[in-house]
Amino acid sequence: MSKNEKYELEIGEEGLDYDILDVSFNPSTQAFIVEAGLKPGMKVLDVGCGAGVMTSWLANQVGPQGSVTAIDNSEVQLNVTRKRLQKENISNVKTFVLSAYDISQLKEQFDFIYCRFVLHHLHSPRNTIKIFYANLKQNGIYVGEEGIISAAFAYPASFAWNGYMPDLKKPELEKDGENRDGDFGMKLLYYAKQAGFEIENCKIVQPVLWKKEQKKGLLDGLMAFKKTDLEHGTTEEEWQKKYDETVRLINDDSQMIAFYGSCQIRAVKK
Ligand SMILES: C[S@@+](CC[C@H](N)C(=O)[O-])C[C@H]1O[C@@H](n2cnc3c(N)ncnc32)[C@H](O)[C@@H]1O
Repeated sequence: MSKNEKYELEIGEEGLDYDILDVSFNPSTQAFIVEAGLKPGMKVLDVGCGAGVMTSWLANQVGPQGSVTAIDNSEVQLNVTRKRLQKENISNVKTFVLSAYDISQLKEQFDFIYCRFVLHHLHSPRNTIKIFYANLKQNGIYVGEEGIISAAFAYPASFAWNGYMPDLKKPELEKDGENRDGDFGMKLLYYAKQAGFEIENCKIVQPVLWKKEQKKGLLDGLMAFKKTDLEHGTTEEEWQKKYDETVRLINDDSQMIAFYGSCQIRAVKK
């Protein structure tokens, strides 16, 4: 982990009632995982489990003969997961405050590693994929899903929600340890292959938010990112304008939002 690496979103102890990532992506992620071959009895590692909605789903899929190890380097996030598991009476999950960089400390080999929307927050995503490879059994499966934030757009266009053209360097010029890469999803297949995996499936997902109930989650994202935004030079007044414009986007029925995209891969250690 590089010394200035830190997670940029603030989510409280209670988690969110309406998590826009879960609502926008869980159906396609779950379909992809089922197609990828998650089976009862498997030993799963959930990396960067966050609020644990997917952790609880994974635990139900593998059943009592299987197990899920859920890790997150944030105790606050992990506590949200722990509360959820307790409430849902799920007992086949072990939880640890642990960084993705330190998975080897678990001293376990897994049948299945699931990691979604974590590598695009890390400064060394390429090395982390190699760590996944090292901690899978032979024929073990890594299902990864990472963001493509440049895929976002609004129509009609709005300064509060817009994509951009990413600066795509040649792979040989990309280095770990420098910064986070919100477009790492674009590169997931390439670097999984570089880590030694065989790629057996790859899909792009692009959720669209067009109903008010779907769009309202954008405000939680804005709030969670506020501290980072201000640290990066946005003034309180500029932030407020973005907030007001986001409220307008949410309430305007003719406003379409293309949310962040993602890339999913099924990668196998042969
Ligand atoms: C956007 S959330 C995704 C949560 C969950 N995987 C999902 O898809 O709903 C990113 C999560 O990664 C965690 N995280 C960030 N850096 C991490 C690291 N180095 N090791 C483990 N988890 C990390 C954060 O605490 C947060 O819970």
